[in-house]
Amino acid sequence: HAFLLHRHCRYFPLLLNHPEKCQGGRVALLIVVKSAAPHFARRAAVRRTWGREQEAPRRVRTLFLLGAAGQGEEARAVQRLLEEEDRAHGDVLQWDFLDTFHNLTLKEVNFLRWLHIYCPTADFVFKGDDDVFVHTANVLDFLESRRGHRDLSSLFVGDIISRAFPIRSPRSKYYIPRELYDGPYPPYAGGGGFLMASPLADRLFLASERIPLFPIDDVFLGMCLRSLGVVPEPHLGFRTFGITRRRGSAMNRDPCFYKSLLMVHKLEPDALLAMWDLVQDDRIVCAKTLHLA
Ligand SMILES: *[C@@H]1O[C@H](CO)[C@@H](O)[C@H](O)[C@H]1NC(C)=O
Repeated sequence: HAFLLHRHCRYFPLLLNHPEKCQGGRVALLIVVKSAAPHFARRAAVRRTWGREQEAPRRVRTLFLLGAAGQGEEARAVQRLLEEEDRAHGDVLQWDFLDTFHNLTLKEVNFLRWLHIYCPTADFVFKGDDDVFVHTANVLDFLESRRGHRDLSSLFVGDIISRAFPIRSPRSKYYIPRELYDGPYPPYAGGGGFLMASPLADRLFLASERIPLFPIDDVFLGMCLRSLGVVPEPHLGFRTFGITRRRGSAMNRDPCFYKSLLMVHKLEPDALLAMWDLVQDDRIVCAKTLHLA
């Protein structure tokens, strides 16, 4: 089992780094996007839409989190293109571990360590997948609405999954044998996207170093939260699994649905670009359906 073999190697060298990303003024929101080397179109769509960097009224910075492209001629070609892309945009962090599903926890801990070293002063971090839709303005409004309300420094919101049990079917990619974990998982945020305050991210980094790596990254982060006594906060605006199959197709085409949300899982690049334009279009007037604050 490749995961168990490498359970004790945590930190990997950076192949592409951007130590300068958070310099030159306070970053209000750092957007980090889990991607993989061959996902060129998804990154291009994210840069043109919700991941666009902003200066005013609040500084927003964006980074893509990648593992290695792998071996072989094709992987080397992908790597060369990726390096070119990074020279043009300056927004790729890449670590030297294989970019597989079970290595997403490595991506998590290596990112938390990167944040601790290179960007400890960003106010908030949004972490999500490269195939989601995020309403960045709604995320910023949500944070603004919380200002002064509660203890913002331990904010952690997302689509929270509570009392989930490990999947015991060996064919599932989520398969966890009883010997590795028994009992229900702690509450955790669906990995498609969540929002956290950076002081909490720093405490999560310290907590993560005391916790054995677990092959499902979002559950692993739930374990870190539990060890800190922080309860993640559910928010209806995060829909990591939210669109049901039956209603999905209709919802998927309704810009008003997107206008009222913070993030929605899964959109391919073309659909993301089209929906982004519709959501920015002020001529589309929607009845407010969701109260976000
Ligand atoms: C994770 O990455 C390491 C380093 O590249 C690799 O040796 C290992 O096989 C990967 N693990 C999994 C489960 O893919």
